[in-house]
Amino acid sequence: MSGEANVAKAGLEGIVAAESRISDVNGDKGELIYAGYDIHDLAEHSTFEEVIYLLWHGELPAGAALQQLKQRLSDETGLPTEIQELIGAIPRDANPMDMLRTVISALSFYDPDGADMSAEANERKAIRLTAKFPTIVTTFQRVRNGLKPIEPRKDLSIAGNFLFTLRGEEPDEVSTRTMDLAFVLHADHELNASTFAARVTAATLSDIYSAIVSAIGTLKGPLHGGANEGVIKNLLEIGSVDKVEPWVKQALAQKKKIMGFGHRVYHTEDPRATHLREMSRQLGDRTGEKKWYEMSVKMEEVMMREKHLNPNVDFYSASTYYALGIPTDLFTPIFACSRISGWTAHVLEQYKNNRLIRPRAEYVGPRGLKYVPIEERG
Ligand code: COA
Repeated sequence: MSGEANVAKAGLEGIVAAESRISDVNGDKGELIYAGYDIHDLAEHSTFEEVIYLLWHGELPAGAALQQLKQRLSDETGLPTEIQELIGAIPRDANPMDMLRTVISALSFYDPDGADMSAEANERKAIRLTAKFPTIVTTFQRVRNGLKPIEPRKDLSIAGNFLFTLRGEEPDEVSTRTMDLAFVLHADHELNASTFAARVTAATLSDIYSAIVSAIGTLKGPLHGGANEGVIKNLLEIGSVDKVEPWVKQALAQKKKIMGFGHRVYHTEDPRATHLREMSRQLGDRTGEKKWYEMSVKMEEVMMREKHLNPNVDFYSASTYYALGIPTDLFTPIFACSRISGWTAHVLEQYKNNRLIRPRAEYVGPRGLKYVPIEERG
């Protein structure tokens, strides 16, 4: 940038880059609201389907509205044959987030609304994307293991269907409720990196699929949604509660970042971590495999003592998903299956009141250099 200096802190820290009615984070108080409702209240009383409605419409559904949304979502869980074939053709050892990015990109070719950018068509696309995300993830998981994909059931919730189509058997109530709660907690988080990426793409008036592909690529990174996979890798490497403290101290001495700790906005406990910690504890009690929860608690204690850092949403979601028997490389895709609701809400909001997002860069390179032909360069 030339001329008047107006430089944001690195990483755009503290910069307000959009107006939104979808969600808000109060980092000092450790509060998160979705369209006015406290996350603790929603975690206790709501469901993922209701939260999707809330994020898209700015109010909780009344009357038949929730049932109608469930029906519309349920009608859209299936995948076009071409997409099933594409999933079958993806290398079995592909990273599932790369798979998801590629498949969502290809899915746009088969959307019946095509290039229609009307508000109604975009809402239908948001429904299709939200309904199909879990089916894509579980289809890939089955196909890469040589198993037949399973059709989602009309009578199950998104959470129930995720577990059903993953495992091929009807999930029990506790597992379904746990999954549903995880989906509620991950649904939206203000202007996080992947949501920002989606909004930047949408703000060029590109289509919703392109915006979501941007978001998937951004969520994958280990500083964002990829952290939950990093957490379980660490826990598996450490292996037992007594090794947690020396492992953490050594990693910190080597200036390594410990996945699942710290947050750009929260300076106190992430309210989502409070619920995920409890879920992890309960699942550990239930399965009798308490080790992962106990190791996590120990790691939290050491990180607080050594670095004054709190666990974030990704920390206890790792031991929670592990206790549910979910393959570790599906942890970040699960995050995406929930966050698609927030991403689409933000993209629709961006389209409603759009202006191109185009910040400036502070140029710190040289100026005024004279071009030298290649044969004369030293
Ligand atoms: N482990 C060890 N140290 C950490 C840390 C972690 N997880 N998170 C932050 N810190 C330290 C940094 O090293 C830095 O210390 P320094 O000032 O001595 O150099 C300080 O805390 C500030 O960290 P910084 O990376 O500048 O903060 P940020 O706001 O840019 O980053 C995160 C926020 C979330 C990216 C960062 O905390 C992180 O990388 N966490 C691990 C990845 C993760 O869990 N991501 C999911 C987020 S929901």
